[in-house]
Amino acid sequence: MDIILAIESSCDDTSAAICVDGKVLSNVTASQAVHAAYGGVFPEYASRAHMVNIIPVVDAAIKQSGVLKEDINAVAFTRGPGLIGSLHVGIAFAKGFALVHDLPLIEVNHMQAHILAHFIEEPKPAFPFLCLTVSGGHTQIVLVHDYLEMELIGETQDDAAGEAYDKAAKMLGLTYPGGPMLDKLAHTGDPHKYEFPFPAIAKYGFSFSGLKTSILYFLQKQTALNPTFIEENMPDLCASIQYRINSILVSKLSKAAKDYHIKEVAIAGGVSANSGLRAMLADAGAKNNWNTFIPDFQYCTDNAGMIAITAYHKFLRKDFSNQSVEPEVRMDV
Ligand code: KG4
Ligand code: ZN
Repeated sequence: MDIILAIESSCDDTSAAICVDGKVLSNVTASQAVHAAYGGVFPEYASRAHMVNIIPVVDAAIKQSGVLKEDINAVAFTRGPGLIGSLHVGIAFAKGFALVHDLPLIEVNHMQAHILAHFIEEPKPAFPFLCLTVSGGHTQIVLVHDYLEMELIGETQDDAAGEAYDKAAKMLGLTYPGGPMLDKLAHTGDPHKYEFPFPAIAKYGFSFSGLKTSILYFLQKQTALNPTFIEENMPDLCASIQYRINSILVSKLSKAAKDYHIKEVAIAGGVSANSGLRAMLADAGAKNNWNTFIPDFQYCTDNAGMIAITAYHKFLRKDFSNQSVEPEVRMDV
């Protein structure tokens, strides 16, 4: 049996998973509440919280899986992209564990792992497929040729979709991370009440900074006329902002699918938890005759299950790292 312990610590979630022969048996994540007071991830506090959480999280993942620590065959970790201090905690732990138990180390690219989260559970996409990877730090369209062979065909020029959600939510007075809260409030709103601009970016590129500015100016203008404008129109504002962000994402994805003649289409990353995006992808799939793939909620946001499944494919290819490996803050897929 091939048993892999995987660690994810790239941002503000400390996560560990155990995967046996490509099957994820446990996936334990400790999130960090400390950042809410700062309106965003406070890197120094993230590193400290990882230090506190990592051993209990790993212990829980091993215990829940039912495997014995002595039977683990390899240790995987997120090398990047991510926050340098956060990455260091996971990498140092993985190196120490590997050294003590004399195991190979497997480095994993966090963005590749978000995509391969689709191979944790059924249904699994067939190669080649297109994946829209939308997180707090990235917005990418990736053509996935094989487990570890991926081609970046489009990405954002400025903010990521998750950042656009979080910043818009902040302007509406919602607490960090605002994306999930905005999603919830949008349920009862009218997505066409307010029309926000669609950026004119060529091909499969994205830009969210202009949208962010237009939301800001719109809110400033309206609250100058009526100071309680936001409170009075919260669901409609959330639904309209959500509609615009998602329609930008799905229209670029549709263009890529058409141009590359791809019918297997997936979404991944934290923003793929957005209910509006999930519904819009399902609609586009029905209209265009695609097979669509939407990960289970626990595998949308940062988790070690996706690191484990990626590591399994590297393990099969004996793609190991040595003890001198360092974090990489920016890495291409
Ligand atoms: O992939 P992820 O967990 O971490 C990164 O690698 O960045 O993504 C986090 C991002 C945050 O910006 C968060 O607001 C956004 O995903 N997010 C959502 C939802 N759930 C998480 N955005 C919109 N709607 C949601 N339901
Ligand atoms: Zn992520």
